[in-house]
Amino acid sequence: MFVVFLGAPGSGKGTQATSLAEKYGLVHVATGDLLRDAVRLGTELGAKARGYMERGELVPDDLVVAMVMDRLSQPDAARGVVMDGFPRNLDQARALDRALRERGLAVDLVIYLRVPDAVLVSRLAGRWECPSCRTPYHEVSSPPRVAGKCDRCGQPLVQRPDDRPDTVRRRLQVYLEQTAPLLEYYREQGVLVEVDGDQPIPEVSRQIVAAVEALKRGGPRG
Ligand code: AP5
Repeated sequence: MFVVFLGAPGSGKGTQATSLAEKYGLVHVATGDLLRDAVRLGTELGAKARGYMERGELVPDDLVVAMVMDRLSQPDAARGVVMDGFPRNLDQARALDRALRERGLAVDLVIYLRVPDAVLVSRLAGRWECPSCRTPYHEVSSPPRVAGKCDRCGQPLVQRPDDRPDTVRRRLQVYLEQTAPLLEYYREQGVLVEVDGDQPIPEVSRQIVAAVEALKRGGPRG
């Protein structure tokens, strides 16, 4: 099973991709997390990506596509993948389709999390995440059980530097210009399922699981 999460910054891709991957034993591939790891480790990729990420711009396709292809070629990816944050534009979507075709695979399901802009901005302002296992939290809607500590691994939580208001505005603009056209691309392929992401987290999860179960019964490709 190959599932892609699409949605604006703050729409809940990371939150939902984490729990979906856990439920079905799939591998969660989050390009933002891979890039932040590269920055933290000071790799060549991290050094090239850092400025783009701090400005809220997309990291160049050649770097991101190579990173994703490398991750998908690792043996655990054969279990099935939940992609979060990739593809981000039409060239990345076409590169993913080509790579999957070469393996006799295809994108089975694209979950689009639809959330109004005002909600996105307040979610990003209140977001905290675990720097170790990446679990996202929100100070109001999904606080950790112990303030400032990750429920899963106990690490102190941190805020992301690109959640500053001016960078958030740029990320939303980049999403509209470059990523939103993918909705039509995947709708034409018959794999897009739209979910109202402006509901409590468990309800969004329930609707996503329903879409996956429908896929397992033969839809939406039919
Ligand atoms: P990336 O890390 O992918 O960030 P993003 O797409 O901007 O998405 P976010 O992680 O901000 O939000 P999310 O949708 O995962 O929401 P979350 O679940 O955390 O990318 C960062 C940067 O890396 C990019 O700007 C770019 O520079 C680079 N990059 C990454 N991929 C790239 C690519 N393919 N090509 C080029 N460059 C790339 O939720 C947000 C908050 O809301 C949390 O606090 C959460 O607890 C809360 N929340 C979630 N769901 C709900 C709900 N239903 N109700 C209430 N609160 C909720």
